[in-house]
Amino acid sequence: MRYRSQSVAYWYFALALILFGLQLVFGLLSAAKYLGPDPLLNIMPFDVTKTVHTNLLIVWVLTGFMGATYWIVADESRSELHSVKLAYIQLVLWAIMGVTAIISYFFGLGTGNKLLEQPLPNKLLIVVCMLIFLYNIGMTIKRSGRFTTTEAVLLLGLASSALLYLPALLHYSNYVVSIYYRWWTIHLWVEGVWEMIQGAFLAYLLIRLSGADREVLEKWLYVIVGLVFIAGILGTAHHYYWVGVPAYWLPLGGFFSALEPVALVGMAMYAYFAIRRTGIRHPNILALHWAIGSAVFTLFGAGLLGLAHTFPDINKWTHGTLVTAMHGHAAFYGAYVMIVLAVISYAAPTMTKGRPEEGTSLGMWAFWLQISGMFGMTLSFATAGIGQVYLERVLGIGYLDVQLKIQVHFLMLVATASIFVIGAMLFIYDFFRYPPRLEPLDENSPTSTQGTLANEQIG
Ligand code: HEM
Ligand code: HEM
Ligand SMILES: [Fe+2]
Repeated sequence: MRYRSQSVAYWYFALALILFGLQLVFGLLSAAKYLGPDPLLNIMPFDVTKTVHTNLLIVWVLTGFMGATYWIVADESRSELHSVKLAYIQLVLWAIMGVTAIISYFFGLGTGNKLLEQPLPNKLLIVVCMLIFLYNIGMTIKRSGRFTTTEAVLLLGLASSALLYLPALLHYSNYVVSIYYRWWTIHLWVEGVWEMIQGAFLAYLLIRLSGADREVLEKWLYVIVGLVFIAGILGTAHHYYWVGVPAYWLPLGGFFSALEPVALVGMAMYAYFAIRRTGIRHPNILALHWAIGSAVFTLFGAGLLGLAHTFPDINKWTHGTLVTAMHGHAAFYGAYVMIVLAVISYAAPTMTKGRPEEGTSLGMWAFWLQISGMFGMTLSFATAGIGQVYLERVLGIGYLDVQLKIQVHFLMLVATASIFVIGAMLFIYDFFRYPPRLEPLDENSPTSTQGTLANEQIG
């Protein structure tokens, strides 16, 4: 930690990790309901636990993005943040927004639009938080006079995320129109502008963790962002197959979404070659695991498992089944959970007191248990989903009868999810067991490797 104001990131990460833990509780509750009987049916039925599970995911990942951005922008622009006070006000408003949204779902006050269920006042509060955030980051960069390519891509991703949230504020009584615009937020977030955020975080980490040249890495960042844009925007059409829009979306969706994995192959190669060619410069091996892991797991979860059901001929059978849940888990985990955990692991040794710079063995256990658990969960959803598609959609057996036949896969889900939960708990414990450091590190101290300019090729 080179700047005192970077310590705000600690509190963002702390909130993010608490909500991560809570998200898993609601994941397990949702899975348990597939196995029945359900004693909580009248207090929190499946639709409530699933909404809370997915909304907590989005809120904590965004909290992580915000904390990581505050941390990274100070480092990249070599400046204190514009306003620490604003950053804390934003965090408090954001926490209030998240908690009240979750409470509202228990009272049936959600808007019913999947993943965008937040009641209108909460949505408006999200906009306020994003504006404070973008203003604070923008002013920090402006006042510092140093604006790197990594920051440009990060800022573009964050500002576009805020912009793409605006369609979610409108209410359409026509279901087709409503679904049509829903994807402008959801798809263009996860397969467009959030990938820019992931790419920028990855570039920041690789520049510091490997010996690769900033100029070379940032050039590749442009290529990846370009590919994401070309494929991701028209790729939105892979959600337009069966929602009541004209049929010309079918070939468009199939073709452009099939190109999307190319950018993800690029991202994984980018990470791999950065390390392979230039070696490891920084002692933080744990952060390196998370960073490379994120690029590789994204290729698997988003690239391969996205491709698996993106063509209309396949999607007409798999749409809205557990095959979607298989892909949703692996893709979200690889791309957004892992990259946030990577930045936290990178920042942790200097943001907290007494932590070894290379990471702890507990942290390494957390990495491998999570990876194995999530891989097992993906397989459980996949086997359940393939069974469901065949029995329900090919053979025409009723939905509930099929659910009984595929219950064994949910036992497997609970078993593998338990491994994942142990990994997640270890990560959370490992984060909180060292107290936060509120003062910047002395540049000359032996543990401040990441603070020295010699560590970085300046572009
Ligand atoms: C990091 C990137 C990605 C993430 C986080 C992600 C996540 C998700 C999630 C959560 C859903 C369920 C959405 C819903 O029903 O509300 C979904 C659906 C879908 N995704 Fe992805 N995805 C990613 C990339 C991709 C890619 C690259 C492809 C194709 C190559 C793809 C293909 C699909 C398809 C076809 C669906 C619709 C499934 C259905 O019809 O039920 N995804 N994705
Ligand atoms: C304890 C671990 C977890 C368990 C047991 C679990 C279980 C579940 C279940 C049962 C569902 C509902 C599937 C359905 O609609 O039928 C679900 C949905 C979802 N979960 Fe998890 N989950 C866990 C962790 C996670 C994590 C770590 C992530 C983030 C990477 C995540 C992301 C999602 C998403 C995006 C959906 C919506 C999928 C869709 O729209 O089809 N879950 N989860
Ligand atoms: Fe999509």
